[in-house]
Amino acid sequence: MSGTCIIGLQWGDEAKGKLVDLLTKQVDVVVRYQGGANAGHTVVVGDQVYKLHHIPSGIINENVLNIVAAGVVIHPATILKEIQSLVDRGFRLEDRLILSDRAHVVMPWHIIEDQLWNSAISGEKNIGTTLRGIGPCYRDKVGRSYAVRLGDLVRPNFAERIREIAAAKLPLLESMAQGISVELNADAMVAEFTAYAEQLRPYIADTTRMLLDIVEQDKKLLFEGAQGSLLDIDHGTFPFVTSSNSSGVGVSAGSGVAFKWIDKMIGVAKSYSTRVGGGPFPTELDNEIGEKIRQKGKEFGTTTGRPRRCGWFDAVAVRYTRRLGGIDKLALMMLDVLSGHPELKICVAYELDGKRIDYFPGDADELKRAIPIYETLPGWHEEITTAREITDLPANAIRYLLRIEELVGCPIEFISVGPDRAQTITSVSLTDCVSTPVGS
Ligand code: GDP
Ligand code: IMO
Ligand code: MG
Repeated sequence: MSGTCIIGLQWGDEAKGKLVDLLTKQVDVVVRYQGGANAGHTVVVGDQVYKLHHIPSGIINENVLNIVAAGVVIHPATILKEIQSLVDRGFRLEDRLILSDRAHVVMPWHIIEDQLWNSAISGEKNIGTTLRGIGPCYRDKVGRSYAVRLGDLVRPNFAERIREIAAAKLPLLESMAQGISVELNADAMVAEFTAYAEQLRPYIADTTRMLLDIVEQDKKLLFEGAQGSLLDIDHGTFPFVTSSNSSGVGVSAGSGVAFKWIDKMIGVAKSYSTRVGGGPFPTELDNEIGEKIRQKGKEFGTTTGRPRRCGWFDAVAVRYTRRLGGIDKLALMMLDVLSGHPELKICVAYELDGKRIDYFPGDADELKRAIPIYETLPGWHEEITTAREITDLPANAIRYLLRIEELVGCPIEFISVGPDRAQTITSVSLTDCVSTPVGS
């Protein structure tokens, strides 16, 4: 067995979906192991665009088994919509999509709670969640007493359990709502979830046992991270993070597959930085350069449609997440978006309270005070979306990539120059370019 993981190294939306799809032809199984419908992973194949929230991006390849493992939180209505949309587009999902009976269910009270928190906390303290009920669902998972797992949906006493939890949740939500009326109709929920249970039943199984069997066979596994390492609940920019371990450290916990089975970690990063929602972002460009990147990169959320905040590449942050994830190789995405800038900046260190630091601060307030120290590199004007070999890139693009490799401390294996599967340079070896003059 061999195991490869795809991990976002920034604040999410690094184009993980594109890379997973690209690598899927070499694997037998793709596994999602954390997060939920807060994720939005895009796969583009010719004129077909697929937007996936729970279902692994391996689903577009008919030969691959796709597992949504125990660490994922599932919103039944959303996953059923995803399933239906794939079926409508001619995909066969039976025996190709398996959902863990241990995965937790995002219930209506979780969505209400997410909304109530979001509207109660304003200004700089607002996390700006995706409002998909992710935090409240993970909170109930850790709290245990009010948790609902996918396997519970298809067990006989489920209706009773919904009524019991709804009765306990209503006064809690009302106390948070401060006068706004909260509705939790237990009868309606029982009917709704009974219907979901019947539709999801064929997909539910013990994926932990299944994966434990798979790792003892001669199979190739690909683990698809959601969100990005800087949104990791333990190691990210807390509290402006998501509620799961979205860095490399989460793979084993979420899937049940021991780290000893994983032999390659691929870190995915954009050629610049983006962030959606609140929280510190030292290299943010709240100006026309940021706007130019947003428009060219179509930087609007796949899940919520919110404009993404854009900024220069932060090598301090990505070096940190590269080390955190034990990353072996980098995939540098969206390089085409940087065409047309006279110069490009890379953050190489920060100034914090008058001192130069080269580490990523663990405290959000410190990170907020960190002033980026930039190195400036020459840009390039050529459009590069048709580049398929490293030698098709302008010399300044290669210079930029080489500097990123050096600062992050990891070789680049993939370069993406457009959303389509085909718009990728694979098996990159930049060191070869140093001896051979390239491009313009
Ligand atoms: P994910 O959450 O990490 O899978 O990323 P998203 O799908 O949320 O966002 C990435 C967006 O960039 C999607 O719309 C992709 O189709 C698009 N994309 C992926 N790679 C490239 C690229 O190299 N260049 C450009 N211009 N767009 C890309
Ligand atoms: P993918 O997998 C980008 C952000 C939200 C918010 C914070 C917490 O597509 O890369 P949550 O709803 O999880 O409680 O929100 O995390 N966030 C993401 N940002 N890409 C994602 O997923 C994200 N999932 C959550 O914007 O700031
Ligand atoms: Mg996304």
